[in-house]
Amino acid sequence: MVKVAVVGVGNIGKIHCRYYSQNPDAELVAVCDLIEERAQAMADLYGPRAYTDMEVMLQKEEIDVVSIATAGKENGGDHFDPAVIAIEAGKDVLVEKPISNNIEQAREMVRLAAERNVRLVSNLNHRFVPAAYKGKELIQKGDLGSLLFLNMKLTIQNPNETSPWFHLRALHPHSVDVLRYFAGDIKRVQAFMTKAPGREIWSTASINLEFASGAVGHLTGSYDMAGRHPIEYCEVAGDKGRFTIDNVYENFTFYPHESDELVVLRNSIMTGVGSFQETFKNRIDHFIKQVKDGVAPSEMEASGADALAGQEVIEAAIRSQQENGAVIDVPAVSKEIVL
Ligand SMILES: NC(=O)c1ccc[n+]([C@@H]2O[C@H](COP(=O)([O-])OP(=O)(O)OC[C@H]3O[C@@H](n4cnc5c(N)ncnc54)[C@H](O)[C@@H]3O)[C@@H](O)[C@H]2O)c1
Repeated sequence: MVKVAVVGVGNIGKIHCRYYSQNPDAELVAVCDLIEERAQAMADLYGPRAYTDMEVMLQKEEIDVVSIATAGKENGGDHFDPAVIAIEAGKDVLVEKPISNNIEQAREMVRLAAERNVRLVSNLNHRFVPAAYKGKELIQKGDLGSLLFLNMKLTIQNPNETSPWFHLRALHPHSVDVLRYFAGDIKRVQAFMTKAPGREIWSTASINLEFASGAVGHLTGSYDMAGRHPIEYCEVAGDKGRFTIDNVYENFTFYPHESDELVVLRNSIMTGVGSFQETFKNRIDHFIKQVKDGVAPSEMEASGADALAGQEVIEAAIRSQQENGAVIDVPAVSKEIVL
């Protein structure tokens, strides 16, 4: 049984608690929040012990995994301290996205996890859906041939104006991760951004991408659209075929160049992903399975290194915008961080 503690039980930490407590291979033993009532509410609901200080929690409890759902500046400013405490204590860690809004801190988290040989992963939940698994399977089977281009769109409504880069750093860990999941590392970016009327932040972005493989791509992002309509679209094309994914997990269609017969996957209302929140379940269940199976830290899926690589792309896009649309090289991140 994998013993789990959730740190930060606001909106998203509550979802973590629900899915860890439903996982038959996990036991939610402790929760921690600076706000006592929040921790106590989760203790009352699921039975773990409640704490307001995670160092006290780690001293008192036997814990294998710490799941961090704090927030902070650009939704990632509060992740570093609890992540470092957990890694230093030798725990495996799942951290919400962005791994950190501060690239130096993100690099340090990944370096430290490698040094301590603990598993560090991030909640990059958009890739943990059957539609994405099917796309990955067809790419690996060679059904798309050599990848040529990708088009990604992720747009929701978020009026938060707390930082000029809030939209980039808080939302696009997801879209960049899906792009990297299908096509690997991104080598160069070039960004143009705009502001919706009345907004002060760069709330809409258009980003050109060049992958290390030579494939090219594009990401459209916005905090100015409506969450009630489809939020995400992904298209991946090679010299043998092309697939599209509508709205994270709703529809998958593969178009082979040499055939009229398509491969279509529709999210089933009976057995499919029931709601967006279930992408958290898929991600958390996969994490617990990899921990239980003893998967090596460098082989973990949607790892800290993957999250860092995505954040490096975002920082490069921000620099491009700051430099009037200059083409920016993205620093490479090794899965086996060189110490
Ligand atoms: N993966 C996704 O699809 C997805 C979707 C939305 C949000 N998120 C992410 O989830 C995270 C949490 O967002 P939220 O809306 O739940 O935030 P929130 O503000 O509702 O909750 C954060 C909680 O963390 C607690 N906290 C902060 N520092 C702490 C510490 N050192 N120890 C213990 N508790 C601490 C706060 O008291 C608060 O209760 C963010 O990083 C956000 O980006 C992910």
